[in-house]
Amino acid sequence: MAKSTPPPGDRPIKTLERVFSKAGAGSRTDARIWIGAGRVRVNGKVVQNPDHWVDTKLDRVTLDGKPLRAASKVYVLLYKPKGYLTTYRDPEGRPTVYDLVPDLGQWVAPVGRLDLDTSGLLILTNDTDFAERITNPAHKVPKTYQIKASTLLTDAHLEQLRQGVTLTDGPTAPAEVTRLRDSEKFTVLEMTITEGRNRQVRRMLEAVESRVRKLVRIAIGPIRIGELPIGKWRDLTPDEVLSLRGVSTAKVHAARRAARETQP
Ligand code: URA
Repeated sequence: MAKSTPPPGDRPIKTLERVFSKAGAGSRTDARIWIGAGRVRVNGKVVQNPDHWVDTKLDRVTLDGKPLRAASKVYVLLYKPKGYLTTYRDPEGRPTVYDLVPDLGQWVAPVGRLDLDTSGLLILTNDTDFAERITNPAHKVPKTYQIKASTLLTDAHLEQLRQGVTLTDGPTAPAEVTRLRDSEKFTVLEMTITEGRNRQVRRMLEAVESRVRKLVRIAIGPIRIGELPIGKWRDLTPDEVLSLRGVSTAKVHAARRAARETQP
């Protein structure tokens, strides 16, 4: 069905399918199925158009006759292992990150994606505004990766990564890059980027004629994976949630500089 523009005014207007994901009741795909099946009513009337506009303050939405309630917010930090998909269901039956978190009583979604072969810090939440804050490149929330490259990288390569390299979807923004160590054959580096394009780190390494051998996301903004064992999860603390809400690259860099300066 064609999308129409929302009714004018400053009411809290959302499409019907979005009302479900926003309330943490289910994914937008789930919502489309329920709506299509005629299980959803708005103000008592069955509505089968997922793009129907709903005023979340005034309209009463029910699923199987039960009202949707605003869900309490849940924020989970998972150490995703390699080999787990960042999706809910896989048609091929491969393991997903949902196999690693318990039933939290709310439907949570991953904040951004990590590739099947990437491990590291993944946040899952039912707070869609918070998720958008972290994933929208306009907010420049830094994500830090530890990378084992397939080759020895020169200082010139690292400088190229810092300045930005040209990918098929355009040049990358400047990155923070630190060489951690070299072996005879490869370099291990840390890189902080603020964009989060599809397979960005892998493609950046290819742009300097190397490849990613191992990729671990170790931080999002000020939140670090720390001592959390691989495959395990914990709740984000309220302070961590607040810090991510207000985070900007400048603040994180300033905090890191201050930490370095106070080190003995
Ligand atoms: N960049 C990548 O190439 N892959 C990821 O999983 C995350 C960032």
